[in-house]
Amino acid sequence: MAANPIELRPYTPEHLPELTDLWVESWRQAMPEIDFEERRGWLIGHLGALIEAGTLIELAFAEPDGASETTLAGFVTIDCSNGQVDQLVVHPRHWGRGVAEALIYSAAAHAGRPITLEVNRENVRAVRFYGRIGFNVTGQGENPLSGRPTLQMEWRPGFLLMERD
Ligand SMILES: CC(C)(COP(=O)(O)OP(=O)(O)OC[C@H]1O[C@@H](n2cnc3c(N)ncnc32)[C@H](O)[C@@H]1OP(=O)(O)O)[C@@H](O)C(=O)NCCC(=O)NCCS
Repeated sequence: MAANPIELRPYTPEHLPELTDLWVESWRQAMPEIDFEERRGWLIGHLGALIEAGTLIELAFAEPDGASETTLAGFVTIDCSNGQVDQLVVHPRHWGRGVAEALIYSAAAHAGRPITLEVNRENVRAVRFYGRIGFNVTGQGENPLSGRPTLQMEWRPGFLLMERD
């Protein structure tokens, strides 16, 4: 299926309600056994703390199938001081459409350095996505909220190496 055009824009506070709805819906689909609605308040506080600490949030907009207007399709957070991605989330109606790629490449371009993140080991869709892009597993850990096992991953995108030559 052809992907719809994706537009990237920086986060502004008026997007917070739509962003939190997207986060709850996406995680509900990815891990239905966990109540993410209950974590909405945690997310709002957590994003506030990330922004306060200087982390960037990039938004992706795209037209869902059958719609004539773009809506929020996903977002990524990137700490440019260390390359850490804390959140990468795409709305399920845009899964498999290149939105996650667009966001992770944008995060790497903003940071200008290797990207690191931690993913739940049982989140097979995400682990598969990161592997396809070229992330390597560098360690193992535990999710602080759920206690579930995680994989620590790192990505050194080729375009960063080429820019250095
Ligand atoms: C993780 C996420 C951003 C990836 O975006 P996406 O658009 O779904 O990713 P893609 O469709 O490009 O890639 C997913 C891959 O997993 C594969 N996949 C899907 N379900 C799978 C399953 N049950 N088992 C194994 N692989 C699976 C897909 O086939 C695809 O691989 P392929 O391209 O090699 O065929 C998105 O799924 C998401 O927002 N998930 C919920 C939040 C999340 O997990 N965030 C990451 C936390 S670190």
